[in-house]
Amino acid sequence: MLLEEAFDGPGEARLTNELRADGHVVLELGAFDADRLIGVVVFSRLMIEGPGASFPAVALAPVATAADARRAGVATSLIETAHRQLIEAGERLSVVLGEPEFYSRFGYEVERAEGFSSPWQGPYMQAVAWGDAPEHGQLHYAPAFDRL
Ligand SMILES: CC(C)(COP(=O)(O)OP(=O)(O)OC[C@H]1O[C@@H](n2cnc3c(N)ncnc32)[C@H](O)[C@@H]1OP(=O)(O)O)[C@@H](O)C(=O)NCCC(=O)NCCS
Repeated sequence: MLLEEAFDGPGEARLTNELRADGHVVLELGAFDADRLIGVVVFSRLMIEGPGASFPAVALAPVATAADARRAGVATSLIETAHRQLIEAGERLSVVLGEPEFYSRFGYEVERAEGFSSPWQGPYMQAVAWGDAPEHGQLHYAPAFDRL
């Protein structure tokens, strides 16, 4: 419901359900106002295929806040908390496709993703590294993204 409304259609809700069903969610956090879900962020497994080796990274998608709860820091808190948990769990790189103006505050940079190849490569593709991680390679998103 939250995702359908936030994205004005079923695509991201379906994506999230498929990521869960396929076991490809690495971390999912929700924000609640009393019992009501007002925010969600999902990170799924993404593989970076380099010469001779594959590196496990994560992809941030989707993130959404209920329309009447926006501009109150909900998404910021979800993403920052998730990043802390991912780093503690040993994750070393995250990619996102979206507005650099929004995601740069979380450390994402277009330049960090420029060496990667993917169907979504371009000015909205960004990455943040939290340790040693590949600079180049082919990004392989979870199969649910192919059905978006
Ligand atoms: C994008 C979204 C998740 C932000 O949620 P939120 O809880 O309002 O975010 P926050 O309150 O933490 O906002 C943090 C900042 O991001 C800014 N921001 C929000 N959306 C932005 C956007 N699309 N581009 C640039 N900046 C944006 C806000 O202005 C705010 O900045 P400020 O504190 O300087 O005013 C929410 O607007 C949403 O659900 N949108 C519809 C779904 C969507 O587009 N998801 C992202 C897909 S890339």
